[in-house]
Amino acid sequence: FGDRVLHGKKVVVSAGPTYEDIDPVRFIGNRSSGRMGFAVAEAAAQAGAQVTLVAGPVGLASPPNIAKRIDVRSAAQMHAAVTEAAADADIYIGAAAVGDYRPNTIAAHKLKKQAGAELTLQLAENPDILASLSAQRAHPFLVGFAAETQNVESYARDKLQRKGLDMIAANQVGDGMGFETADNAITLYWVDGSAELPRADKAILARQLIEHIASRYKAVRG
Ligand code: C5P
Repeated sequence: FGDRVLHGKKVVVSAGPTYEDIDPVRFIGNRSSGRMGFAVAEAAAQAGAQVTLVAGPVGLASPPNIAKRIDVRSAAQMHAAVTEAAADADIYIGAAAVGDYRPNTIAAHKLKKQAGAELTLQLAENPDILASLSAQRAHPFLVGFAAETQNVESYARDKLQRKGLDMIAANQVGDGMGFETADNAITLYWVDGSAELPRADKAILARQLIEHIASRYKAVRG
């Protein structure tokens, strides 16, 4: 980024999975590695932004040059950390794979196996972090991710509209791409346009994504 397209902007990025504890030794999680979000945070910092990275449980070192990293575990913790960090941010990029549900209660002690019986877990819905930000009167420019296995464009455009986002980065999960992989391919959608970012290393994709976010941000927020 010769021209540091996000110079002086405050950018918050969420990355990684969330873990929802069942008891002291078990949790419900997902296969997000956090690599895409960390690459996006690194690219935003390279573009001159002051970056706060809110990370779920991942085994990744912080990218160089980010201003702040906040480690969280559950969706509720991520929601709280993002809400606080995004209060004075210009751009929020939600690259985390936030769990949709959490166990109703977290058992204080390890659950014991009841041989021969079924076990039912009661789940409560988690808050939607992006949707809750977009419901606030003044909110940052909002970018979401959509990992889909089918009907990528229609699901992504629906999400863009339903969650009140400025942009959405959709990727097809599968074919050796998406979670836990070094490569990805993204189609970006906004209200009146789209852009194809073909299969590439996540670091390269992240830089392209930041270029598009910066130009769209300038178009709608000056
Ligand atoms: O609806 P879906 O989970 O597929 O949407 C994905 C996008 O929404 C991602 O950007 C993710 O970070 C965000 N999200 C969120 N809060 C949730 C669930 C998803 O911010 N509870």
